[in-house]
Amino acid sequence: MAMLRAGAALQLALIGLMLASLSGSCHSALQVGFYNGKCGVADVEAIVAGVVAARFGKDPTIAPALLRMQFHDCFVTGCDASILLDGKSSEKTAPPNLSVRGYDVIDAAKAAVEAICPGVVSCADIIIMATRDAVSLSGGGRYKIETGRKDGLVSLASNVDLPAPSISVNDSITAFARKGLTVSDMVLLLGGHTIGVAHCSLFQDRLYNFQNTGKPDPTMDPSLASALRSTCPNQQTSVDNIVNLDQNPASSSIVDNSFYKQILARRGILQIDQEIALDKQTKDLVGAIAGSFDFSARFGQAMVKLGALQNGSPGEIRQSCRAINTARKLPPSKEEQRTGQMGWTGRTRRGGSDLRALSIHKRGSSD
Ligand code: HEM
Repeated sequence: MAMLRAGAALQLALIGLMLASLSGSCHSALQVGFYNGKCGVADVEAIVAGVVAARFGKDPTIAPALLRMQFHDCFVTGCDASILLDGKSSEKTAPPNLSVRGYDVIDAAKAAVEAICPGVVSCADIIIMATRDAVSLSGGGRYKIETGRKDGLVSLASNVDLPAPSISVNDSITAFARKGLTVSDMVLLLGGHTIGVAHCSLFQDRLYNFQNTGKPDPTMDPSLASALRSTCPNQQTSVDNIVNLDQNPASSSIVDNSFYKQILARRGILQIDQEIALDKQTKDLVGAIAGSFDFSARFGQAMVKLGALQNGSPGEIRQSCRAINTARKLPPSKEEQRTGQMGWTGRTRRGGSDLRALSIHKRGSSD
């Protein structure tokens, strides 16, 4: 009898372990071509690609905007499109997200997909598809993405734990490790700075008064510092100019390894970008990427890994990427109790309209 009980307990423990490992990583739920056959003959990825290509044709800076959006979505509570939710204190309102762009392209892609196949494709997957297309249109090669994500139900500015540009290499390694990303993943993903721009205010200290020394950052090439000082004057003005993150003018909008060559030549813009070329934990890899031809493939793999970050919380397929489908009766979070603010539009008190919203939007909800 005792043996039987011990056997049953062991079985239960094994099932528990299996469930725990499944809920801990939703990676297994994601798959390449998840939407194949889910929208009849329509090719969901091609529909999104068409929208992104049209926009890229008019404005290639949409590529860095989308690339950054994926990082800011996935790094905070996993890739759940929480960055897209409107709301008084949603993630969008957190300082690092104030300059995130491209929400309108995601809306356009979502509208195009919904018109053909309503209630099936998540906004979280659209961010991943659009970013892959943007990288490919910018010369970065086309990597295969996994899909099958759900859209999250919570978005709070207080959840935003994105690293600051002056973060040390050590602290950045720790921050990435907390998300399950290795040092190599971090160095490769920072290659995202091969395109796009930074505002002067985010690296101004490096030009004039680095770490309160009254002098520029000694790790920056003096001729670059001098050129940047003319774009980024020291006096306080209302204008916050921008400069390319990849200082090679021939490659500042191409996804390639030129960024690594620039940082090796002490021509990094952000402090963290420069430091990965100097720190003993990362400089060998920076040198290897700068000297190799497989950056695109390795960057693609790192983007897929970034795209696999999930938080295991419940989700749905949103109708609009900017709001959750229903006003669910969830208890307010600690943050909401403290601030009295609701994190996302769906949680604003709608009183009697809750039930109506539920029935109207039920089709789109799949949790
Ligand atoms: C330690 C990690 C990181 C830090 C501290 C950081 C910081 C920053 C900062 C300060 C900017 C300039 C924002 C502005 O001026 O408005 C920026 C821009 C950008 N970041 Fe990062 N970043 C990090 C990692 C990443 C990753 C992993 C990616 C993508 C894989 C990425 C992609 C981009 C892109 C593409 C831009 C340019 C955006 C545009 O032109 O609109 N960043 N980043």
